[in-house]
Amino acid sequence: MPDIRSQYTDQYMFYGKHTPQELAARYDTPLYVYNEDLLRTRCRDLVRLSDHAGYGVNYSVKANSNPALLAIMREEGLVVDAMSPGEIRMNQLAGFTAQKILYISNNISLAEMQNALDHGLLVSVDSLSQLESLASLHPGGRVMVRFNPGIGAGHHSKVITAGKDTKFGIMPEDLPQVLALLQKNTMTLAGINQHIGSLFMEPDGYLAAMEVLLRLAEDLPQEVFRHLEIIDFGGGFGIPYRKYDKQPRLDMADLGRRLHALITSWAAKTLYKGRFLVEPGRYAVAECGILLGRVHAVKNTAEKRYVGTDLGFNVLQRPVMYDSFHDVEIYGPAHAPRTPMPQTIVGNICESGDILAKERLLPTLHTGDILGVLDAGAYGFSMSSNYNQRLRPAEVLVQSDGTPRLIRRRESLDDMTRCFDGLL
Ligand code: LLP
Repeated sequence: MPDIRSQYTDQYMFYGKHTPQELAARYDTPLYVYNEDLLRTRCRDLVRLSDHAGYGVNYSVKANSNPALLAIMREEGLVVDAMSPGEIRMNQLAGFTAQKILYISNNISLAEMQNALDHGLLVSVDSLSQLESLASLHPGGRVMVRFNPGIGAGHHSKVITAGKDTKFGIMPEDLPQVLALLQKNTMTLAGINQHIGSLFMEPDGYLAAMEVLLRLAEDLPQEVFRHLEIIDFGGGFGIPYRKYDKQPRLDMADLGRRLHALITSWAAKTLYKGRFLVEPGRYAVAECGILLGRVHAVKNTAEKRYVGTDLGFNVLQRPVMYDSFHDVEIYGPAHAPRTPMPQTIVGNICESGDILAKERLLPTLHTGDILGVLDAGAYGFSMSSNYNQRLRPAEVLVQSDGTPRLIRRRESLDDMTRCFDGLL
């Protein structure tokens, strides 16, 4: 029997040898399902942006840090960042060695800095005060410095990370103080980095910010420039969330041509022999992940039709946090009455803001339907929580041969009470 709204995943055979209903029955819901082939495809899009010898992709693991997915990205030739001890641990579980992990920090303690150094990681600091802290722990060592290129981008004010109004990065005009601190502590500037924000669909701002960072590199004194090994331009590569409206993709061919031309000509001009990195998170993982949930209740009020599910903001925060749009597929028998009507899909959390989709025009939903929230692979599971003391969901990978593999089990009540062991 055909599903009611599944054309997008049908074209990719997203669920492999099983139906989403079967996966939901076998692993229960809410359930994150990932597709290995799609993950590899998106990694390859990024790797192919340039074939310059120094070009590489530094995946930002905050978007999704499941070690099984990270291991696939390692196979695809990506390196990774980390910004917490937990992310270091996940990267190690996936087989990344210290040389393949950059610690992109923000406002961390001396103990956390020391932990990153003990792991042998190159640490990026993003304020003069953190540079002083690192110098106190690591005089004579190597460091990376994050700059604010003055150009920001993003889908929401909460995810714009450069420009005037942000806590991130050192302003280029403070370069003299950076250089003085480095000299005083005989430290080597091994890298410079930036990140302008999350989700651009037009590459102009990103390319302009790249040029700002490259100019800054050129402004470095020759003896400092000589030691520079890494120029990391940050992430932000967007994906089209409006799949059923056929939203166009970011033009990666155009971006690749322009990015490649820029780094190639600049390296030829400056004789730079180091690496150029991009640092995307979302682009690699968003589209390979779908969140499955179940409709448990429907309610018609004078104003609205509410569809009650197990997809609260404890499992997917983005709609509540940023008003983000995620398309929804519907897996259920087509024979039920399915006249399209505006419906508001809500979760099971005790807050009236617990809304996944507002007044969405969709075929009528019924109790028992399985829903698939598209593009949930990035900032989905990684931002999930135990709010209302709900258990974090399981994660399943549909492998290239079409078979599902459990890559994180559902949490248990014992997992939740473990931190109280011996205390109560
Ligand atoms: N590098 C740094 C230093 C970052 O802070 C981030 C994201 C990235 C790279 C990767 O950015 P991406 O390529 O994924 O846009 N939770 C929000 C996004 C927050 C991004 C935080 N930083 C969301 O769900 O849209």
